[in-house]
Amino acid sequence: MKHDSTPPTGGETHQTTNASHPVLTTNQGIPVADNQNSLKAGARGPVLLEDFILREKIFHFDHERIPERIVHARGSAAHGYFELYESLADITKADLFQRAGEKTPVFARFSTVAGGAGSVDTPRDVRGFAVKFYTQQGNWDLVGNNIPVFFIQDAIKFPDLIHAVKMEADRGYPQAGSAHDTFWDFVSLMPESAHMIMWAMSDRTIPRSLRMMEGFGVHTFCMVNSEGKNTFVKFHWKPKLGLQSTVWDEALKLQAADNDYHRRDLFEAINQGNYPEWELGLQLFDQATADSLPYDVLDATKLIPEEVVPIRIIGRMVLDRNPDNFFAETEQVAFCPSNMVPGMDFTNDPLLQGRLFSYLDTQKSRLGTTNFHQIPINAPRCPMHNMQRDGMMQMSVPQGRANYEPNSLHQAGEAGGPRECPVTGFSSFQGRPDHDEQGDKLRIRPEAFADHYSQARMFYQSQTPNEQAHIASAIVFELSKVELSHVPPKVIANFRNISEELAARVAKGLGLPLPEKSPAAAPVQELDASPALSIQQNMKSTLDGRSVGILITDGSDATLLKATQEAIEAAGGTFKLIAERIHNIALSDGSTVKADGKLDGTPSQLFDAVALILSAEGSTRLAKEGAAVQFVMDAFGHLKAIGYTDAAQVLLDKAHVEADAGVVALSRTDAFTKAASRRYYDREPNVRNLA
Ligand code: HEM
Repeated sequence: MKHDSTPPTGGETHQTTNASHPVLTTNQGIPVADNQNSLKAGARGPVLLEDFILREKIFHFDHERIPERIVHARGSAAHGYFELYESLADITKADLFQRAGEKTPVFARFSTVAGGAGSVDTPRDVRGFAVKFYTQQGNWDLVGNNIPVFFIQDAIKFPDLIHAVKMEADRGYPQAGSAHDTFWDFVSLMPESAHMIMWAMSDRTIPRSLRMMEGFGVHTFCMVNSEGKNTFVKFHWKPKLGLQSTVWDEALKLQAADNDYHRRDLFEAINQGNYPEWELGLQLFDQATADSLPYDVLDATKLIPEEVVPIRIIGRMVLDRNPDNFFAETEQVAFCPSNMVPGMDFTNDPLLQGRLFSYLDTQKSRLGTTNFHQIPINAPRCPMHNMQRDGMMQMSVPQGRANYEPNSLHQAGEAGGPRECPVTGFSSFQGRPDHDEQGDKLRIRPEAFADHYSQARMFYQSQTPNEQAHIASAIVFELSKVELSHVPPKVIANFRNISEELAARVAKGLGLPLPEKSPAAAPVQELDASPALSIQQNMKSTLDGRSVGILITDGSDATLLKATQEAIEAAGGTFKLIAERIHNIALSDGSTVKADGKLDGTPSQLFDAVALILSAEGSTRLAKEGAAVQFVMDAFGHLKAIGYTDAAQVLLDKAHVEADAGVVALSRTDAFTKAASRRYYDREPNVRNLA
C-alpha cells in the first residue's frame, strides 16, 4: 500500500512532532518521513538502491551482534553503590577506602562460565561475580567468582580448562554443562582441580538466586598504606539475604520453566525496590601469617578458612538500578583484573598474572577497538588525561598540538598536557618478599603448590551429611554422562585421596568397583573442618527476598487469601497467584482476581514455598490435572513448605505428600510464613535416594 509522506504542519518542527514525540531520524540526524515502507519505483515496483534510509537501517541491523565473551558469556548486571563503614586508612591509601560513609558508584555483573550468551541461567556452573568500582582514582575491578578457589594454578592451563568444559570440538554440545567426556577427562588428569571440583559439585553451583550467593576475589591481593606498609588481602562478598541453593532436580526443571530465571529474578527484585545487598569482608594478614599457613597464599586452588583468618566487614554494596540498555551496559562492560588503583597491588599468583594479560587482550577482540574504555559503562568517572591518541572509533576530541610527554609547549603558552605524579600515581609495592624472588628462568611449580587434596578433603568434611550426599550424587550424575570408560575410574582413584568414603559412594553410585588409589604428589594433611564453608550451616531462616506461589481456583476463600498475602508481605516475601486460567477467578465473596501465572506454565520450582488455597470443587478438579499434581509433588520433592486449606487434602493425597514440619495448615498464616522461611533437607531421604 502506498503511504504518502506529509510535511510538518502546525506545532511540528523538524525535531519534534505535534504529539511531542521526538522525530525519528537517521544516524546522520536526517528526519525520517516514513518508517513503514521502502522507496520503490511505483507501488508494486522494485526497491531503489537510492533508499539511504532503508540501507542505513538494514546495514546497522546486520552488524548488531558482536563476539560474545569467550567465557562468562551469559550474564546479568545492575548499577549500585559501595558504601564504606569504616576508614581503612591504616591499611590502604586507596581513595575509596578512606572516608567512612562515602559511597562509590559500582556496576556488578553475574555470569555463568561455560554457556553461550543465549544459554540457560541454571546449569550446574560456577558463577562470575564481577564488580567495577568507579573511584575518584580511576576504575578498580574486582573480578571474582562465587567460589573462593579455582580449577588450576597457572594461567597457561586456562585455555585447556575452558576448551575441555565448553561444547566438545567436533559435535558442538553440550551447551553450558560440565557433565561430559572432555571436562572429566581433563579433571582426571589434573589433580590440582580436586578442591574446586568439590565446590563445583556442591550446591554452590546451583544458587537459588544471584542475590543469595557469596562472591570471592579468589587470589591474594595487596593493600598498601601511605607509609608504604603492605598487608595481604582476600576479598569476600556476603549476601544480606543469606546463602541459598536449589536442589539438583529443581535446577534441572528450572531450565524448562524459565531459561532466564536468574536474570528475571535480579531484574524484578530491583524493579520492585528489593535491592540486593552484599557486605564486603576482608581477610587481612601479614607475611608472617602467610608463612605460617600449611599452604601457599599464591596458590589459587587454596583458601584461608575464616576460622583461621577472620573476615573484617568493611562496607556494603547495594544494587539499586537496572541497566537502561542490556547491550550498551551489560554486554559492553569490560571488567579487567588489571584495573587496579593506587593503594592496592597484585601478588605473584601465576593465575592472576596470566589474567592481567588476558582480559585487556580479549576485550580488544570482543569490543573491536582499543578505545572501548570510552564506552560510557567502561569510562572512568574521574578526570582522565593522557597522550594516547586515535585508533578506531575515537570518541574524544583532544585539544592542542602536544600529543607526547614530556613536551615544552606549555612554555609557549599552550597547555602542555598531563604529567606523571610520583606522589599520587600508581606505584608497585617495593620490598615484599614474594616480589624479591629471583632465580633462573624456570617453567616449574613451586613445591608449596603440590598438595592438591588436603583442602578438597577439608571442604568435603565441612559439609553437613545432606550436603555430602548432594556432592556424591552430583559426581555420580556427571560421571554417568561420561562415555569414555577409562575416565570415571581415574577420577575415583584421585578422589580416594580426598575421602575414601566419598570415593566408595561414587563407585557404588556408578556401579563400578573401587579402583586403586592414585598416588598423591604431597601427603594429605588433616586440616580442621571449616563450618563457614557449608551453606546449610549458615542459611538464614527468612522469607525476605523469597517468593510464594499461591494456587487458587474458583471459589477460593477470599478472606484467607487476603490474610495469606498480607502475612507473606509482612515477612518480607512476595507472592504470585497461580490458577488454571489468568482472568476472572471468582473468589468465595463474589469478587474476582487476575492470576499472575497460568498453572501449566508456572510450575512450583519458580517459588520458595507454595500455598494451596482451593475450594472443594477446585481441589477435586485439580486432582485430575497433571500440572497441578506435579506442582504440589515438585514443591514437596524440592523440600519446600506447603500451606494448605482442608479442601486441598484431595490434591495433597494425589501428589503423595506426607505430613511433616513443612506441610502446614493455612488457618494460622504466621505458622505458614515461618514454615515457608526455610527448606526441609531432613525430608530428602523420603523423596530421593541420594548417592
Ligand atoms: C580466579 C580465577 C578466575 C576468576 C575468578 C575469573 C572470573 C571471571 C569473570 C567474573 C568474568 C566475567 C566478567 C564479566 O562479567 O564480564 C571473566 C571473564 C573472562 N575471564 Fe576470567 N576468571 C578467572 C580466571 C581466568 C583466567 C586464568 C583467564 C585467562 C588466562 C581468564 C580469562 C577470562 C576472559 C578472557 C574473560 C572474558 C572477558 C571479556 O570478554 O570481557 N579468566 N572471568
